[in-house]
Formats: sequence, C-alpha cells, structure tokens
Amino acid sequence: MTIGIVGSGAIGAAFARTLARAGIQATISNSRGPDSLKELVRDLGPSIKAGTREEAARSDVVFVAVNWTKLPAALAGLPDWNGRIVIDANNPIEAPLFKPVDLKGRVSSEIVAELVPGARVVKAFNHLRADILAADPRADGGRRVLFYSGDDNTAKAEVAALIERIGFAGIDLGPLAVGGKLAQFPGGALPNQNLVKIG
Ligand SMILES: NC(=O)c1ccc[n+]([C@@H]2O[C@H](COP(=O)([O-])OP(=O)(O)OC[C@H]3O[C@@H](n4cnc5c(N)ncnc54)[C@H](OP(=O)(O)O)[C@@H]3O)[C@@H](O)[C@H]2O)c1
Repeated sequence: MTIGIVGSGAIGAAFARTLARAGIQATISNSRGPDSLKELVRDLGPSIKAGTREEAARSDVVFVAVNWTKLPAALAGLPDWNGRIVIDANNPIEAPLFKPVDLKGRVSSEIVAELVPGARVVKAFNHLRADILAADPRADGGRRVLFYSGDDNTAKAEVAALIERIGFAGIDLGPLAVGGKLAQFPGGALPNQNLVKIG
C-alpha cells in the first residue's frame, strides 16, 4: 500500500511524523514542489520522501491536508481516483480569520468528496491540534484516540488498520454524514477532545 500526502503544513507534516515514527513510507507534497521540502524530509527521516502533488496523489492512500479555500486547486487535474482512498483531514475554517465557512447545512467531507470523484473518502486525523497529532500516541497508560468515518467499509478498514499500525486507537463513527459531522470543526462535538483509550 503506497501513501501520499498533499499538504506539508502543520497537519500534513504531523501525519508524516506519525508514519515516520512507525517506519512507514510515504511521499509528501505541497504547492511549491519537492525542493521546498528538503529540510522537512531530512527532519522526518528516511521513510518519508518529497514529491510532486501528482506523485503523492497517485498513491493507494492519499492524505489531504490543505487550507479549505485552496482544496479545489490542490485537488484539480490529478489522475483518475479509481477507488483509491482519500483521507480527508480538513476542516472548513481557515487562519487568520477563523471564520467558519457556510456549508449550507452539508458535512464538509461531502464537499471534499465532490473534489475527488471516484475516490473512497475517509474522514480522519482532523479532530486534534497538529502538535498533539504529531506527538507519541502512547499517553497516560493508553493510546490516543483518532476518529474516522466513511461510506465505504473496506476503505475504512484500511484506514483503521493504518491508525492502529501508527499506534493510535481508532473509533469508527459510521458514515460521513454522521461521523463527519461529529468530528468536523467547527460544529462537531469531538474536535479537540484529546482522548486516551485504556486497554
Ligand atoms: N493546524 C491544525 O492544528 C489543524 C487541525 C485539524 C485540522 N486541520 C485542517 O487541516 C488542513 C491543513 O491545515 P494546516 O494547519 O496543516 O495548514 P497549513 O499549515 O497552512 O498547510 C497547508 C498546506 O497546504 C498546501 N497547499 C496549499 N495549496 C496547495 C496546492 N494547490 N497544492 C498542494 N498543496 C497545497 C500548502 O503548501 P504550500 O505551503 O507549498 O503552499 C501547505 O503545505 C486544513 O483544512 C485545516 O482546517 C488543521
């Protein structure tokens, strides 16, 4: 299973760090190209390499962590998705104003899913601050919890397995319409709940 990351900012780099800690290979990308990522990948270690957006997006699992208003550009003109998995780690709010986007009653992941037609979208890795996500998931005698949701159970099982492999405790919140809503920021009940599963 190959993993690509689109977005190398706070959340993209935090996800890459969790993979690197487990020795899992991935290609990370941003809008400026691989040369701008030299320092980051040196810091992350040998399992993470820098690539173009297109290279990252060709992977079996594509983790997307881009500023909300930049998602259409970041996801435009990529190879057909053909059932590949997209992990939507995004929230519909943006620095510096942090003004919530008007989703017109929709779940943000459903809007992201429209930008990646044919992909199997799993919402995950969006409910914690980047520094907490990047930290060791073993905490307080248990494992830090990550929520995930999606409409394709096989895709969800693959993301669940990845979550376990990198040391977190995954909790399935159901379909996107239910779980996406609970976990999205703002509006959901779960963002910033830094929970640890004991046992
Ligand atoms: N920060 C958090 O604690 C946090 C927590 C949960 C969820 N989130 C969500 O995660 C997403 C990313 O947030 P962040 O804090 O990581 O943002 P960030 O630090 O500003 O990073 C955004 C990344 O998106 C990349 N990007 C922008 N346009 C692109 C394009 N056209 N093609 C490829 N890459 C592009 C940027 O690359 P360049 O710099 O090269 O333009 C940058 O690497 C947002 O949706 C946010 O709501 C953030």
